[in-house]
Amino acid sequence: MSNIKSEIDRRRTFAIISHPDAGKTTITEKLLLYGGAIREAGSVKARKASKHAVSDWMEIEKQRGISVTSSVLEFSYDGFKINILDTPGHQDFSEDTYRTLMAADAAVMVIDGAKGIEDQTRKLFNVCSLREIPIFTFVNKMDRETKDPFELLEELEKELGIKSYPMNWPIGSGKEFKGVYDRVGERIIAFDGGNHGSTQAKTIEGHLGDSEFDEVLGGHLHEKLQEDIELLDMAGDEFDLDAVREGRLTPVFFGSALTNFGVEPFLKEFLKLTPPPLARNSSKGEIDVYNEPFSAFIFKIQANMNKAHRDRIAFMRICSGKFEKGLEVKHVQKNTKIKLSQPQQFLAQDREIIEEAYAGDIIGVFDPGIFSIGDTLCVGDKFKFEGIPTFAPEHFARVRPVDTMKRKQFVKGVTQIAQEGAIQVFKELRIGMEEIIVGVVGVLQFEVLEYRLKNEYNVDIKMERLPFRSIRWIESSETPLDKLSLTSDTKLVNDLKERPILLFQSDWAISWALEHNDGLILSDIGKSEE
Ligand code: G4P
Repeated sequence: MSNIKSEIDRRRTFAIISHPDAGKTTITEKLLLYGGAIREAGSVKARKASKHAVSDWMEIEKQRGISVTSSVLEFSYDGFKINILDTPGHQDFSEDTYRTLMAADAAVMVIDGAKGIEDQTRKLFNVCSLREIPIFTFVNKMDRETKDPFELLEELEKELGIKSYPMNWPIGSGKEFKGVYDRVGERIIAFDGGNHGSTQAKTIEGHLGDSEFDEVLGGHLHEKLQEDIELLDMAGDEFDLDAVREGRLTPVFFGSALTNFGVEPFLKEFLKLTPPPLARNSSKGEIDVYNEPFSAFIFKIQANMNKAHRDRIAFMRICSGKFEKGLEVKHVQKNTKIKLSQPQQFLAQDREIIEEAYAGDIIGVFDPGIFSIGDTLCVGDKFKFEGIPTFAPEHFARVRPVDTMKRKQFVKGVTQIAQEGAIQVFKELRIGMEEIIVGVVGVLQFEVLEYRLKNEYNVDIKMERLPFRSIRWIESSETPLDKLSLTSDTKLVNDLKERPILLFQSDWAISWALEHNDGLILSDIGKSEE
């Protein structure tokens, strides 16, 4: 048992969240480099670019040269076993991106110092804060001109509602960038113009006001640094580990991933502060990570990774105990037993069959079509983990088969693809006929839908984009739903679980609905039933 405890204790499972181009790939690459998982900088980027040449993933990926689904990167560093959940972010932003965050115990939020909080960062942050997991901020690109660091802290508080504690503080920026002052270690980590990872940055130990600091920084920047730190000590938020662990306070680090400045000190500090695998809630209360036997939940299903085999891979997050190859587990939702015989772990897109894994790890298993998102697998007494919520799609289209004779296959295909979690399906009653509206988080999913219906179900579709922008699940209403007072451009539909939903074209229409219907409660998340 103690071996299981020490194995679990050294695991750290987190996601990196950011807006495209903030530097997530560059940081990930540096982390893998320290862990020895890759040998040269550029390999992750090269994979990103040449993926179509080597992968056997979906055709659509090959055509577009992008990754439609996310994977997991794992490596060891300083005795820790680290699992980074890769969240799709560019054109392939999808509900999968949100769901992946359900498997993480912490998030690293990368912000471009010149741009501050951007749209996708905000959306991903909101999902993390829903789970109250710790969030660590890395302000990137300090080698360029950036916003004033105080202004960035204010944005965190105002736009995301999270307090912050700068662990280090930048000295100058852009051409004048001299490095950072490490508030914990009371030292300066000097920036030498960018060594791109070949050597360690120079550190100068000492106290603010020491003459050594004058020599490195020059009088003016040293004075400015003293003033800034004084202001932070006086007016800034206090460091509080409990608040960090509950996601109420974010430790902030400034650095530059491209020039490999500040990333390794960040990793070291992050590993000290971030928690080992967290206990998860279930139908029988919190599941003890160490003392319960194996349990896991499915958070992602990836279809057709290998077209020749038409297989699906179900990704699960292990929540307690130890997994060994060939383990027989209960599949709670289906009320069956299954043997997990070919579990795999993933480094980027390389698959490796594994012999054992522990709470905190992510493994993938072949799925002959039996798993759904949110399913629980366990050994011993049966229970269900809290389900995974449904996240609001942002793009909508009415979808019909070109050939009406193929309606049956069409409905089957759309329903199955929705069960995998790639799209959401809403039903609308129109002139006595049930019409299907599809909602997606990222528009690429429309293409995936069209491609898969044609290739797997032999159905061509017509798609008509609809101008809705927001969706709200109706949590309760005093007025019968067909009597709700709504703007004429608002639509009432049901999802596949028969939950009532309103589709809106503007924020104004949402406010209108709330103002004109007493007792109407709306939610931008579809809560799971469990
Ligand atoms: P992403 O995964 O979040 O989308 O971002 P990515 O790491 O791909 O970085 C986006 C761009 O920002 C890249 O430039 C990258 O080199 C640059 N970048 C990342 N970190 C830093 C940094 O600390 N300082 C500076 N100055 N730039 C940084 P690109 O021109 O789009 O790509 P590439 O030609 O460098 O590959």
